[in-house]
Amino acid sequence: METVLSGIRSTGHLHLGNYFGALRNFVKIQDTYKCFFFIADLHSLTTHPHPDDFHANVRIILSEYLASGLDPEKCCLYVQSDVPEISELCVLLNMISYVGELERTATFKEKVRQNPDNVNAGLLTYPVLMASDILVHRANWVPVGKDQEPHLEIARVLARRFNNLYGVELFPEPYAFNFGKDLIKVPGLDGSGKMGKSNNNGIYLIDDDNTITKKVMHAVTDSGPTEKNSTMSEPVANVFTLLRLVSDPKVVAQFEAAYADCSIRYGDLKKQLATDICATVAPIRERINSIHTDDAYLSKVVAQGREKARASASATLKLAQQAIGFKTF
Ligand code: ADP
Ligand code: TRP
Repeated sequence: METVLSGIRSTGHLHLGNYFGALRNFVKIQDTYKCFFFIADLHSLTTHPHPDDFHANVRIILSEYLASGLDPEKCCLYVQSDVPEISELCVLLNMISYVGELERTATFKEKVRQNPDNVNAGLLTYPVLMASDILVHRANWVPVGKDQEPHLEIARVLARRFNNLYGVELFPEPYAFNFGKDLIKVPGLDGSGKMGKSNNNGIYLIDDDNTITKKVMHAVTDSGPTEKNSTMSEPVANVFTLLRLVSDPKVVAQFEAAYADCSIRYGDLKKQLATDICATVAPIRERINSIHTDDAYLSKVVAQGREKARASASATLKLAQQAIGFKTF
Protein backbone atom coordinates (compact mmCIF):
# COMPACT_ATOMS: atom_id res chain seq x y z
CA MET A 1 0.00 0.00 0.00
CA GLU A 2 1.35 3.44 -0.85
CA THR A 3 2.14 5.88 1.90
CA VAL A 4 0.66 9.37 2.27
CA LEU A 5 2.10 11.90 4.70
CA SER A 6 1.34 15.46 5.62
CA GLY A 7 1.92 17.93 8.40
CA ILE A 8 0.70 21.32 9.50
CA ARG A 9 2.84 23.77 11.48
CA SER A 10 1.49 24.47 14.94
CA THR A 11 1.08 28.21 14.65
CA GLY A 12 -2.55 28.82 15.54
CA HIS A 13 -6.09 27.68 14.98
CA LEU A 14 -7.21 26.00 11.77
CA HIS A 15 -9.53 27.90 9.43
CA LEU A 16 -11.98 26.85 6.74
CA GLY A 17 -9.15 27.00 4.17
CA ASN A 18 -7.20 24.39 6.13
CA TYR A 19 -10.36 22.33 6.60
CA PHE A 20 -11.66 22.25 3.01
CA GLY A 21 -8.18 22.49 1.44
CA ALA A 22 -6.48 19.87 3.58
CA LEU A 23 -8.15 18.17 6.54
CA ARG A 24 -11.39 17.10 4.93
CA ASN A 25 -9.36 15.38 2.21
CA PHE A 26 -7.03 13.75 4.75
CA VAL A 27 -10.10 12.29 6.42
CA LYS A 28 -11.31 10.89 3.09
CA ILE A 29 -8.04 9.09 2.27
CA GLN A 30 -7.24 7.62 5.67
CA ASP A 31 -9.11 4.41 4.74
CA THR A 32 -7.37 3.92 1.40
CA TYR A 33 -3.69 4.68 2.07
CA LYS A 34 -1.18 4.12 4.80
CA CYS A 35 -1.37 7.61 6.29
CA PHE A 36 0.92 9.62 8.53
CA PHE A 37 -0.36 13.00 9.74
CA PHE A 38 1.65 15.07 12.16
CA ILE A 39 1.96 18.41 13.88
CA ALA A 40 5.10 20.22 12.77
CA ASP A 41 6.07 21.82 16.07
CA LEU A 42 9.81 21.93 15.28
CA HIS A 43 9.06 23.89 12.12
CA SER A 44 7.05 26.39 14.19
CA LEU A 45 10.24 27.29 16.09
CA THR A 46 11.60 29.34 13.19
CA THR A 47 9.42 32.19 14.46
CA HIS A 48 10.33 31.72 18.17
CA PRO A 49 6.91 31.16 19.78
CA HIS A 50 6.66 32.03 23.46
CA PRO A 51 7.32 28.94 25.64
CA ASP A 52 3.79 29.25 27.08
CA ASP A 53 2.33 29.01 23.58
CA PHE A 54 4.58 26.28 22.15
CA HIS A 55 2.81 23.30 23.74
CA ALA A 56 -0.59 25.00 23.75
CA ASN A 57 -0.38 25.36 19.95
CA VAL A 58 0.32 21.64 19.53
CA ARG A 59 -2.67 20.83 21.70
CA ILE A 60 -4.88 23.11 19.63
CA ILE A 61 -3.92 21.55 16.30
CA LEU A 62 -4.17 18.04 17.70
CA SER A 63 -7.70 18.70 19.01
CA GLU A 64 -8.69 20.29 15.71
CA TYR A 65 -7.28 17.39 13.70
CA LEU A 66 -9.26 14.91 15.78
CA ALA A 67 -12.43 17.03 15.77
CA SER A 68 -12.25 17.23 11.96
CA GLY A 69 -12.37 13.45 11.71
CA LEU A 70 -8.82 12.13 11.65
CA ASP A 71 -9.04 8.75 13.30
CA PRO A 72 -5.96 7.61 15.25
CA GLU A 73 -7.05 4.01 14.67
CA LYS A 74 -6.88 4.51 10.90
CA CYS A 75 -3.91 6.84 10.49
CA CYS A 76 -0.74 7.48 12.42
CA LEU A 77 -1.24 10.81 14.15
CA TYR A 78 1.76 12.22 15.98
CA VAL A 79 3.78 15.20 17.12
CA GLN A 80 6.97 15.82 15.13
CA SER A 81 9.19 16.47 18.18
CA ASP A 82 8.05 13.14 19.69
CA VAL A 83 9.98 11.36 16.96
CA PRO A 84 13.69 12.15 17.45
CA GLU A 85 14.55 9.97 14.43
CA ILE A 86 13.30 12.86 12.25
CA SER A 87 15.91 15.21 13.69
CA GLU A 88 18.59 12.53 13.38
CA LEU A 89 17.78 11.96 9.73
CA CYS A 90 17.83 15.73 9.29
CA VAL A 91 21.46 15.87 10.48
CA LEU A 92 22.35 13.23 7.89
CA LEU A 93 20.46 14.95 5.09
CA ASN A 94 22.04 18.30 5.98
CA MET A 95 25.38 16.83 4.92
CA ILE A 96 24.14 16.30 1.38
CA SER A 97 22.22 19.60 1.12
CA TYR A 98 24.04 22.50 -0.46
CA VAL A 99 23.77 26.01 0.97
CA GLY A 100 23.42 27.43 -2.55
CA GLU A 101 20.40 25.31 -3.42
CA LEU A 102 18.73 26.11 -0.09
CA GLU A 103 19.38 29.83 -0.53
CA ARG A 104 17.80 29.70 -3.98
CA THR A 105 14.55 28.17 -2.71
CA ALA A 106 11.65 30.50 -3.49
CA THR A 107 10.05 30.06 -0.05
CA PHE A 108 13.35 30.96 1.70
CA LYS A 109 13.83 34.07 -0.43
CA GLU A 110 10.27 35.11 0.39
CA LYS A 111 10.86 34.70 4.15
CA VAL A 112 14.07 36.74 3.93
CA ARG A 113 12.14 39.49 2.19
CA GLN A 114 9.32 39.42 4.75
CA ASN A 115 11.54 39.09 7.82
CA PRO A 116 15.05 40.38 7.20
CA ASP A 117 15.77 40.51 10.96
CA ASN A 118 15.25 36.80 11.59
CA VAL A 119 17.09 34.91 8.87
CA ASN A 120 18.04 31.96 11.08
CA ALA A 121 19.72 28.75 9.88
CA GLY A 122 16.54 26.84 10.74
CA LEU A 123 14.77 28.85 8.09
CA LEU A 124 17.46 27.97 5.56
CA THR A 125 17.29 24.26 6.41
CA TYR A 126 13.48 24.25 6.76
CA PRO A 127 13.15 22.16 3.56
CA VAL A 128 15.72 19.64 4.84
CA LEU A 129 13.70 19.08 8.00
CA MET A 130 10.58 18.78 5.88
CA ALA A 131 12.36 16.27 3.62
CA SER A 132 13.27 14.32 6.78
CA ASP A 133 9.61 14.31 7.84
CA ILE A 134 8.68 12.77 4.52
CA LEU A 135 11.62 10.46 3.84
CA VAL A 136 11.73 9.02 7.35
CA HIS A 137 8.50 7.15 6.51
CA ARG A 138 9.48 6.71 2.87
CA ALA A 139 6.25 8.43 1.89
CA ASN A 140 5.14 8.42 -1.75
CA TRP A 141 2.50 11.13 -1.65
CA VAL A 142 2.33 14.42 0.19
CA PRO A 143 -0.98 16.31 0.13
CA VAL A 144 0.05 19.98 0.33
CA GLY A 145 -0.82 23.20 -1.41
CA LYS A 146 1.06 24.60 -4.38
CA ASP A 147 3.10 26.87 -2.10
CA GLN A 148 4.93 23.79 -0.79
CA GLU A 149 6.08 22.55 -4.21
CA PRO A 150 9.64 24.02 -3.86
CA HIS A 151 10.00 22.03 -0.63
CA LEU A 152 8.82 18.83 -2.27
CA GLU A 153 11.32 19.38 -5.07
CA ILE A 154 14.11 19.52 -2.46
CA ALA A 155 12.82 16.34 -0.83
CA ARG A 156 13.03 14.63 -4.24
CA VAL A 157 16.54 15.97 -4.88
CA LEU A 158 17.73 14.72 -1.49
CA ALA A 159 16.08 11.30 -1.92
CA ARG A 160 17.74 10.88 -5.32
CA ARG A 161 21.09 12.20 -4.13
CA PHE A 162 21.17 9.91 -1.10
CA ASN A 163 20.21 6.86 -3.16
CA ASN A 164 22.87 7.66 -5.81
CA LEU A 165 25.64 8.54 -3.38
CA TYR A 166 25.23 5.36 -1.35
CA GLY A 167 24.06 3.07 -4.14
CA VAL A 168 20.76 2.18 -2.48
CA GLU A 169 17.07 2.34 -3.34
CA LEU A 170 16.11 3.54 0.11
CA PHE A 171 14.02 6.65 -0.48
CA PRO A 172 11.16 6.90 -2.98
CA GLU A 173 10.77 10.34 -4.56
CA PRO A 174 7.74 12.01 -2.97
CA TYR A 175 5.18 13.86 -5.06
CA ALA A 176 2.29 16.18 -4.26
CA PHE A 177 -0.88 14.18 -3.77
CA ASN A 178 -3.48 15.46 -6.14
CA PHE A 179 -7.05 15.45 -4.89
CA GLY A 180 -8.22 16.17 -8.44
CA LYS A 181 -11.53 17.98 -8.49
CA ASP A 182 -11.57 18.02 -4.69
CA LEU A 183 -8.55 20.35 -4.67
CA ILE A 184 -9.91 23.80 -4.04
CA LYS A 185 -8.61 27.16 -3.04
CA VAL A 186 -10.81 28.55 -0.30
CA PRO A 187 -11.11 32.32 -0.72
CA GLY A 188 -11.20 34.86 2.09
CA LEU A 189 -14.13 37.19 2.72
CA ASP A 190 -12.08 40.30 2.03
CA GLY A 191 -12.65 40.34 -1.70
CA SER A 192 -9.50 38.77 -3.09
CA GLY A 193 -6.94 36.08 -2.45
CA LYS A 194 -7.10 32.92 -0.35
CA MET A 195 -8.17 32.45 3.22
CA GLY A 196 -5.04 32.32 5.37
CA LYS A 197 -3.82 32.92 8.90
CA SER A 198 -1.51 35.73 7.90
CA ASN A 199 -4.16 37.41 5.75
CA ASN A 200 -6.39 38.00 8.78
CA ASN A 201 -9.45 36.97 6.76
CA GLY A 202 -10.19 33.55 8.21
CA ILE A 203 -13.22 31.84 9.64
CA TYR A 204 -11.83 29.47 12.24
CA LEU A 205 -13.15 26.06 13.23
CA ILE A 206 -13.24 27.37 16.79
CA ASP A 207 -15.31 30.50 15.95
CA ASP A 208 -18.75 30.70 17.58
CA ASP A 209 -21.94 31.39 15.59
CA ASN A 210 -21.90 35.06 16.48
CA THR A 211 -18.32 35.57 15.31
CA ILE A 212 -18.95 33.64 12.10
CA THR A 213 -22.11 35.62 11.34
CA LYS A 214 -20.35 38.94 11.95
CA LYS A 215 -17.46 37.96 9.67
CA VAL A 216 -19.78 36.80 6.89
CA MET A 217 -22.02 39.86 7.08
CA HIS A 218 -18.88 42.00 6.62
CA ALA A 219 -17.83 40.09 3.50
CA VAL A 220 -16.86 42.34 0.61
CA THR A 221 -19.31 42.28 -2.34
CA ASP A 222 -20.11 44.86 -5.03
CA SER A 223 -23.03 47.10 -5.96
CA GLY A 224 -24.96 44.22 -7.54
CA PRO A 225 -25.61 42.95 -11.08
CA THR A 226 -27.28 45.41 -13.42
CA GLU A 227 -27.35 43.30 -16.59
CA LYS A 228 -28.79 39.82 -16.91
CA ASN A 229 -26.27 36.94 -16.91
CA SER A 230 -23.31 39.21 -16.22
CA THR A 231 -20.01 37.76 -14.97
CA MET A 232 -19.46 37.98 -11.26
CA SER A 233 -16.83 40.25 -9.76
CA GLU A 234 -14.13 38.45 -7.74
CA PRO A 235 -15.55 39.30 -4.28
CA VAL A 236 -19.01 38.00 -5.22
CA ALA A 237 -17.58 34.92 -6.91
CA ASN A 238 -15.69 34.25 -3.65
CA VAL A 239 -18.91 34.36 -1.63
CA PHE A 240 -20.42 31.84 -4.07
CA THR A 241 -17.34 29.61 -3.80
CA LEU A 242 -17.86 29.45 -0.03
CA LEU A 243 -21.58 28.87 -0.49
CA ARG A 244 -20.86 25.87 -2.75
CA LEU A 245 -18.70 24.37 -0.02
CA VAL A 246 -21.29 24.53 2.74
CA SER A 247 -24.77 24.83 1.23
CA ASP A 248 -27.25 22.54 -0.39
CA PRO A 249 -26.84 22.57 -4.22
CA LYS A 250 -30.50 23.60 -4.57
CA VAL A 251 -29.89 26.67 -2.41
CA VAL A 252 -26.79 27.53 -4.44
CA ALA A 253 -28.79 27.19 -7.67
CA GLN A 254 -31.48 29.56 -6.33
CA PHE A 255 -28.92 32.26 -5.55
CA GLU A 256 -27.18 31.74 -8.90
CA ALA A 257 -30.50 32.21 -10.67
CA ALA A 258 -31.21 35.32 -8.59
CA TYR A 259 -27.81 36.70 -9.56
CA ALA A 260 -28.42 35.92 -13.23
CA ASP A 261 -31.78 37.75 -13.31
CA CYS A 262 -30.47 40.62 -11.13
CA SER A 263 -32.97 40.00 -8.31
CA ILE A 264 -30.30 38.94 -5.82
CA ARG A 265 -30.02 40.65 -2.45
CA TYR A 266 -26.54 40.25 -1.05
CA GLY A 267 -27.90 40.56 2.50
CA ASP A 268 -29.94 37.38 1.97
CA LEU A 269 -26.99 35.65 0.32
CA LYS A 270 -24.75 36.45 3.27
CA LYS A 271 -27.39 35.39 5.81
CA GLN A 272 -27.71 32.04 4.06
CA LEU A 273 -23.93 31.64 3.90
CA ALA A 274 -23.58 32.48 7.60
CA THR A 275 -26.27 29.96 8.56
CA ASP A 276 -24.68 27.21 6.50
CA ILE A 277 -21.11 27.91 7.68
CA CYS A 278 -22.38 27.85 11.27
CA ALA A 279 -24.08 24.49 10.62
CA THR A 280 -20.79 23.09 9.22
CA VAL A 281 -18.56 24.50 11.94
CA ALA A 282 -20.77 24.00 15.04
CA PRO A 283 -20.37 20.21 15.39
CA ILE A 284 -16.62 20.47 14.75
CA ARG A 285 -16.31 23.29 17.31
CA GLU A 286 -18.22 21.27 19.88
CA ARG A 287 -15.89 18.32 19.34
CA ILE A 288 -12.82 20.60 19.57
CA ASN A 289 -14.04 21.98 22.88
CA SER A 290 -14.64 18.60 24.42
CA ILE A 291 -11.45 16.97 23.05
CA HIS A 292 -9.25 19.93 23.97
CA THR A 293 -9.84 19.46 27.70
CA ASP A 294 -9.72 15.65 27.65
CA ASP A 295 -6.17 15.09 28.90
CA ALA A 296 -6.53 11.32 29.15
CA TYR A 297 -7.72 10.97 25.55
CA LEU A 298 -5.10 13.35 24.13
CA SER A 299 -2.22 11.66 25.91
CA LYS A 300 -3.46 8.25 24.77
CA VAL A 301 -3.66 9.42 21.15
CA VAL A 302 -0.22 11.04 21.30
CA ALA A 303 1.40 8.00 22.91
CA GLN A 304 -0.11 5.67 20.32
CA GLY A 305 1.02 7.93 17.47
CA ARG A 306 4.50 8.30 18.90
CA GLU A 307 4.94 4.55 19.15
CA LYS A 308 3.76 3.84 15.60
CA ALA A 309 5.70 6.74 14.10
CA ARG A 310 8.93 5.85 15.92
CA ALA A 311 8.72 2.22 14.84
CA SER A 312 8.44 3.28 11.20
CA ALA A 313 11.03 6.07 11.48
CA SER A 314 13.66 4.06 13.32
CA ALA A 315 13.51 1.28 10.72
CA THR A 316 14.29 3.82 7.97
CA LEU A 317 16.94 5.60 10.01
CA LYS A 318 18.74 2.30 10.61
CA LEU A 319 18.83 1.58 6.87
CA ALA A 320 20.12 5.10 6.16
CA GLN A 321 22.85 4.72 8.79
CA GLN A 322 23.86 1.34 7.37
CA ALA A 323 24.07 2.79 3.87
CA ILE A 324 26.32 5.60 5.11
CA GLY A 325 28.57 3.15 6.91
CA PHE A 326 27.61 3.45 10.56
CA LYS A 327 28.46 0.30 12.50
CA THR A 328 28.01 -0.52 16.17
CA PHE A 329 31.04 -1.73 18.10
P1 ADP B 1 -2.09 29.39 6.30
O1 ADP B 1 -2.15 29.84 4.86
O2 ADP B 1 -3.29 29.80 7.06
O3 ADP B 1 -0.78 29.75 6.98
P2 ADP B 1 -0.94 26.82 6.05
O4 ADP B 1 0.00 27.38 5.02
O5 ADP B 1 -0.39 26.43 7.39
O6 ADP B 1 -2.15 27.82 6.24
O7 ADP B 1 -1.66 25.58 5.38
C1 ADP B 1 -1.89 24.32 5.96
C2 ADP B 1 -2.63 23.47 4.93
O8 ADP B 1 -3.91 24.02 4.60
C3 ADP B 1 -1.88 23.32 3.58
O9 ADP B 1 -2.07 22.01 3.09
C4 ADP B 1 -2.56 24.32 2.69
O10 ADP B 1 -2.48 23.96 1.33
C5 ADP B 1 -4.01 24.28 3.19
N1 ADP B 1 -4.65 25.59 3.00
C6 ADP B 1 -4.39 26.73 3.70
N2 ADP B 1 -5.16 27.75 3.27
C7 ADP B 1 -5.94 27.25 2.27
C8 ADP B 1 -6.95 27.81 1.42
N3 ADP B 1 -7.33 29.08 1.54
N4 ADP B 1 -7.52 27.01 0.49
C9 ADP B 1 -7.14 25.73 0.37
N5 ADP B 1 -6.21 25.14 1.14
C10 ADP B 1 -5.60 25.87 2.08
N1 TRP C 1 5.85 23.19 5.47
C1 TRP C 1 4.49 22.77 5.64
C2 TRP C 1 3.58 24.01 5.67
O1 TRP C 1 4.04 25.08 5.98
C3 TRP C 1 4.31 21.97 6.91
C4 TRP C 1 5.12 20.73 6.87
C5 TRP C 1 6.23 20.45 7.60
C6 TRP C 1 4.87 19.60 6.04
N2 TRP C 1 6.71 19.21 7.27
C7 TRP C 1 5.91 18.67 6.33
C8 TRP C 1 3.90 19.30 5.09
C9 TRP C 1 5.98 17.45 5.67
C10 TRP C 1 3.99 18.08 4.45
C11 TRP C 1 5.01 17.15 4.72
O2 TRP C 1 2.40 23.89 5.40
